[in-house]
Amino acid sequence: MKILLAQIQDIADNGSIVVKGPQGQDIALFRQGHNIYALDNRCPHMEGPLGEGTCEEGIVTCPWHGWQFRLDDGSCLNMPGVDASPVTISVEGDQIFLI
Ligand code: FES
Repeated sequence: MKILLAQIQDIADNGSIVVKGPQGQDIALFRQGHNIYALDNRCPHMEGPLGEGTCEEGIVTCPWHGWQFRLDDGSCLNMPGVDASPVTISVEGDQIFLI
């Protein structure tokens, strides 16, 4: 079942928002141009809010201690293997769905 999370225009380019999933989990949505990415909002280091981090060139920097993660697969650049959790979404038109 698809669940509507947001519209693309809700997210500024190079920006992010945090939305609630169906179990109340926080999902961080990131926009890089026409590409949308989704990660569990909890940083794997100490659960900092990744959706409040800064994004550029496909990388988000956690606002708490600066660890960096690839938006496309959550892999950590600082601590290989301590990765953020990707969330599977689909983008249809302007709508972003959790699938
Ligand atoms: S909580 Fe994200 S880097 Fe520490």
